[in-house]
Amino acid sequence: MEAHDFLTKKILVEHEVKQTLESRTGNFATKPKAEVLREFDSEKWAEVLAKASEFRGFSLLDGLLLDFAGLSLDSRIDFWQRPHFNKVNLATGLLRELTIMIETLRSASLANNQFTEIGSGFGYRILTLAEVLASEGIPAKYTAIDLSANGLAAAELFAERSEINLATVRFDVEGQEQIDENLASPGGVWFSFCALHYASLPPHRLARRLARLPFETLVAFEPIHKAANSKDEIQLDLNQYIEMNSYYPFVLEALTELARIRHLRMTVDSNCFGLNPKMPLSIITLQQ
Ligand SMILES: C[S@@+](CC[C@H](N)C(=O)[O-])C[C@H]1O[C@@H](n2cnc3c(N)ncnc32)[C@H](O)[C@@H]1O
Repeated sequence: MEAHDFLTKKILVEHEVKQTLESRTGNFATKPKAEVLREFDSEKWAEVLAKASEFRGFSLLDGLLLDFAGLSLDSRIDFWQRPHFNKVNLATGLLRELTIMIETLRSASLANNQFTEIGSGFGYRILTLAEVLASEGIPAKYTAIDLSANGLAAAELFAERSEINLATVRFDVEGQEQIDENLASPGGVWFSFCALHYASLPPHRLARRLARLPFETLVAFEPIHKAANSKDEIQLDLNQYIEMNSYYPFVLEALTELARIRHLRMTVDSNCFGLNPKMPLSIITLQQ
């Protein structure tokens, strides 16, 4: 064997195998719950609530833009829509992201038009979905679930101003308690958007907690970490981004286990879209 081949095998192949094993044995740091509450409840959503309470004209979009420090709707960004990055302005990127989300949820909702968001923050997504369906005269039922009291209070304020009937439930989807089905109506489509990637339980335990939620269909718009595959640069960069930020690396494992427990069919559209060029999102759907 030539030196180059030998060294390639020794350094690159062994490195990859080791990395794959490490990445699947759970040696990751995830965010503690106190850190999630600091970031969202105490800081981001408290600010959205304060601004929305103070200014009547403060919109859902204004709330979202607080998180895009310094960017305006005209700023050029890289929108990822597999298989390309597209240079677009932020307004177009936001529109594309919402359109993909809304069309996916609409086609997942077979009959009853009932939507529940897990980790809804201040309600930007579920209330935008509600506004779109209301503009088409489609009646539907909406519930927002979050850990953050400030996020839910802001969601209630925005809902009231847009005359949308939104139920809110303060609940930790990783916690031991059972959700109150008088508050969060059973059935319909439940979805998460960049919320499960703040989880911290081992995947089989998270799956058991999620299995108790009374959804019919679950759609997760989340970044997923996968065993390293040296040919897929996008996935390698995403793995690294998830690790660096201590995001949850086991979304895929947890949802696979959830599908098994609840006897649901799971489909995964991997790394298909996203506003953050470093963090493409996958769409994982669990249904009958
Ligand atoms: C990145 S924000 C996303 C908010 C919203 N989905 C959006 O896209 O605008 C994540 C949200 O998930 C919530 N969250 C994180 N872990 C949660 C848990 N275990 N139970 C309920 N909500 C949780 C946080 O409080 C936060 O509001």
